[in-house]
Amino acid sequence: MNKIISKRRFSEKVFQFEIEAPLIAKSRKAGHFVIVRVGEKGERMPLTIAKADVKKGTITLVVQEVGLSSTRLCELNEGDYITDVVGPLGQATHIENFGTVVCAGGGVGVAPMLPIVQALKAAGNRVITVLAGRSKDLIILEQEMRDSSDEVIIMTDDGSYGRKGLVTEGVEEVIKREKVDKCFAIGPAIMMKFVCLLTKKYEIPTDVSLNTIMVDGTGMCGACRITVGGKTKFVCVDGPEFDGHQVDFDEMLKRMGAFRSIEHRKMQKLHP
Ligand code: FES
Repeated sequence: MNKIISKRRFSEKVFQFEIEAPLIAKSRKAGHFVIVRVGEKGERMPLTIAKADVKKGTITLVVQEVGLSSTRLCELNEGDYITDVVGPLGQATHIENFGTVVCAGGGVGVAPMLPIVQALKAAGNRVITVLAGRSKDLIILEQEMRDSSDEVIIMTDDGSYGRKGLVTEGVEEVIKREKVDKCFAIGPAIMMKFVCLLTKKYEIPTDVSLNTIMVDGTGMCGACRITVGGKTKFVCVDGPEFDGHQVDFDEMLKRMGAFRSIEHRKMQKLHP
């Protein structure tokens, strides 16, 4: 059981939880994730660690209410307990001094991007961060990103904050302006797919962090399998980060939609 130390609401459906998990806080690195379960029979939900405070013994997770399990988690409050939090899991982000790096974060994908931006900056990179969301209230962790980036570009679909346009437009503007050595993209699968199509055109190596359906998180069940460069990979043990130019996003999108109708029925039971 892991206690919720604080809960912060970013927008109607996006919440930040600070959770007591001293051992995970101590050993986590950028890119690592945890698997969270709410209730004994709850679904196992992978969430990337946004921050960790070793002194307080806490980790920070950002959750968007999208389905049954995330809704159950978002209904918990400060002082409540999460049934279990397992981790840190996965491979840490490969960080080095690449030169100039563009980090594109969409929606809640900005949360797992934060430790990567911080680590890239600490390694001496020039870091340009592009934050994107449908509207102003879906742009999260802006100040934290400004503190760790050389420049922050904000793009909203409806133009309610920053500039009106898609994340790819913000990324391309930087590529046309200066030499970019590396790109990281984290967000909805469709957003990562289009960032990768763009950076492939300019031959800029791009890493993506994938958030597939997971069950055991240890490479045994196969639920998180994807195809990368024609080979089967497991997101939980081989990832969650991969060379975005090699990922078969269309197959991944199809697999992620496989349980949509069951999820919909269960959501109607929870909130009729
Ligand atoms: Fe089971 Fe990755 S979650 S193999």
